[in-house]
Amino acid sequence: MAVAVYPGSFDPITRGHYDIIERTAKIMDHLVVAVLRNSSKTPLFTVEERMAMVEELVGGFPNVVVETFDGLLIDFVRSKEASVIVRGLRAVTDFEYELQMAQTNRVMAPEIDTLFLTTNLKYSYLSSNIVKEIALYDGDVSPFVHPQVAERVKAKLLQK
Ligand code: PNS
Repeated sequence: MAVAVYPGSFDPITRGHYDIIERTAKIMDHLVVAVLRNSSKTPLFTVEERMAMVEELVGGFPNVVVETFDGLLIDFVRSKEASVIVRGLRAVTDFEYELQMAQTNRVMAPEIDTLFLTTNLKYSYLSSNIVKEIALYDGDVSPFVHPQVAERVKAKLLQK
């Protein structure tokens, strides 16, 4: 069975992330979306909130589950008996960081491969940070995130 892990901060999940999940679910038997618990970046949402947003969107996929992880990604991937890490590549600016992560992970865990999917062109400019910035200045984030996520971003920023 081909099992993949799609790791990320998902702070919050964007339409670009969703697109990667949807496409990966079609090519793999099973997909674990892995939400990073403790990041060096300070997230806007707690890990529980980030996970809930992902779950809300991908609940309909029979072969996708959402989990959190901490520590080294390869340890989590091994614990799931997965053989593939999935990452989306938006533009050439992503490449250096992604290559460094993939090569490092491959040295530590040669049995695990990183599979890159080019993001849908529609979302090639999109990032969670951009979404948060637009929302902060009261802009319309609906082209970038699903309506449920847009609501949560708005509510979160109002709390702040
Ligand atoms: O969505 P992001 O923030 O770009 O995702 C980055 C992520 C979670 C994939 C990366 O930070 C990660 O794998 N962190 C876990 C720690 C780890 O394994 N680091 C070594 C990778 S070289």
